Amino acid sequence: MKIIRMFAIAVIFGVIVVVGFVYSGLYDVSATAPHSGLANWVMSTTMHASVDRRAKNIDVPNLDDEALQLAGINDFDAMCAACHGAPGQEPEAIGQGLNPPAPDLRESAAHETAAELFWVTKHGIKMTGMPAWGASHDDEALWPVVAFMTVLPELNADSYRAMLARAEGSGHHSADDDSHSHADAAGESTGHPDPDQPHQDQPSEGKVTEHQHSSHNHGDKESADEKKIQPQEHDHGGDDHAH
Ligand code: HEC
Repeated sequence: MKIIRMFAIAVIFGVIVVVGFVYSGLYDVSATAPHSGLANWVMSTTMHASVDRRAKNIDVPNLDDEALQLAGINDFDAMCAACHGAPGQEPEAIGQGLNPPAPDLRESAAHETAAELFWVTKHGIKMTGMPAWGASHDDEALWPVVAFMTVLPELNADSYRAMLARAEGSGHHSADDDSHSHADAAGESTGHPDPDQPHQDQPSEGKVTEHQHSSHNHGDKESADEKKIQPQEHDHGGDDHAH
């Protein structure tokens, strides 16, 4: 009985300490404060175990298709490179301030399965900057990005640029007037021939505002260079000025 009573007192005391800490404001939530080793371990182990479990039952279409990969590189450049960077390209200002940082996807793609990459891309990761792209894109629009990530580990700065140049006009985030290439590529290789799927790039005004970032055409070298120098040009550094 005595042991049970002592145990109950210890539990109550523990709860009071935890709740007190939560309300005290002592924990530093700033993204500039590094996570402790323990917090890092808990978060990354939880994240990987969760993704492994949930990605198990995903049917992966044939991703070994150059048309699909070319569609994917444009979308990757428009949707992912700002945070994750790309071969020869540092993350932009938004990606530089993330904690946890957005990892180099060349390494992630070398270690994760296509199903896992797809799951994270579609569902995002809570309490990090990783968005759920499935909220705005259907699966057919996301598989090309995954197909591209499967070849990403083999690319360097030059081959990335060269592939981007070859991909001009493919992918739903390219502003080029080739509205069917993405749907065809996805349809042929995924077995979901759905030419009416909503993510082909129609060069209409409505589409451009719907995908806010499609106002940058990342398919050409000029805009990519412009993108690269942007953070230095405006020096968003650590100050709080408004735009
Ligand atoms: C706004 C910033 C941001 C954008 C844009 C973004 N990500 Fe992420 N992403 C993150 C962050 C931060 C993490 C790390 C999360 C963590 O450590 O738990 C991450 C993690 C990931 C991971 C898991 C990597 C690993 O090693 O486990 C994948 C895969 C991924 N992102 C793919 C993408 C793809 C594909 C796109 C574009 C369609 C994209 N991300 C766009 C911020 C971003």
